[in-house]
Amino acid sequence: MLPAVPRPVVRRLSSRYIAGPSLDDAVRVVRRLNEAGKLATVDVLGEEVSTADEAAGIAHAYHEVLARIDRDGLDANVSVKLTGLGLELEEGLCRANLLSVVEDAARRGNFVRIDMEDSSTTDRTLALYRGLRAEGHANVGAVVQAYLRRSLGDLPGLDNVRLCKGIYVESPAIAYREYETVRVNFVRCLEALLEQGSYVAVATHDEQLIRRALQLVHAAGLPRDRYEFQMLLGVRPERADSLAAEGHRVRVYVPYGTHWYEYSLRRLQENPKVAGYVAADTFGRLLGRAGR
Ligand code: FDA
Repeated sequence: MLPAVPRPVVRRLSSRYIAGPSLDDAVRVVRRLNEAGKLATVDVLGEEVSTADEAAGIAHAYHEVLARIDRDGLDANVSVKLTGLGLELEEGLCRANLLSVVEDAARRGNFVRIDMEDSSTTDRTLALYRGLRAEGHANVGAVVQAYLRRSLGDLPGLDNVRLCKGIYVESPAIAYREYETVRVNFVRCLEALLEQGSYVAVATHDEQLIRRALQLVHAAGLPRDRYEFQMLLGVRPERADSLAAEGHRVRVYVPYGTHWYEYSLRRLQENPKVAGYVAADTFGRLLGRAGR
């Protein structure tokens, strides 16, 4: 039902998930996170680019983010979406944009995480990641989605991985659909990544998975700089605080920008309370209008 919800309502409901429209908004949020002992990864919203100029604009925005992180001494890296950098326009263009961001980050001693999008992009995304690593770009990381049946097989050779459940709508032929099965595969992937010595970012708000991850990193005797937890801005911030207070590295995903719609829909879709919010908000508006 979400796409039928008017944009202003989506915007209001999802404001907690997005830092704001400008880089200054993102910087303010990152500074606050840093002061509270948490790290950040900054995402420039914009996955619907349709021209090379727009893709170059997103790459340019990432250069500005990296420069600002440097200038302000923030503890943050960046997360990029390859469609935003032009993957659906031309792969060479996307690669050039990605490389420019990765090289800029490397010059500044920073790091670039390549988000994983829907399954039509998985092969190309992993190929670009592997290509960059093979060329010696060590400051780049991948994302693996536990809901994909293929994921366990993708892990060998992935040195730096954010492990998440996955959010796109995929066919049962390629993706697990049942909640418990996704959890089981998440744990399997996590075990395999720890076994192969990868740096793992455990990206979940699922308490059961957080606890299992804590057990696994403890059992493996991993030092605290060999893994991290990641959460999304606006989701379970108190749990992020408690993990940070226990001394774990915790990184919060901080999206900003004017292209907020697609990202907001995905977050609202996952919010267990959203049906209630949407009903209340939509009916509230309708009643308000009827009453005028
Ligand atoms: P689950 O959805 O079961 O949530 C567990 C609990 O967390 C819920 O019961 C609820 O309490 C709370 N919660 C979760 N989402 C909420 C929300 N929006 N609002 C309020 N409460 C909420 N996916 C992808 O396909 N590609 C990617 O690159 C990334 N990147 C990424 C980075 C980071 C840092 C995170 C944390 C997540 C991603 N994801 C992602 C999204 C991920 O795949 C997944 O869709 C969400 O994290 C939700 O799954 P959970 O593991 O949190 O479990």
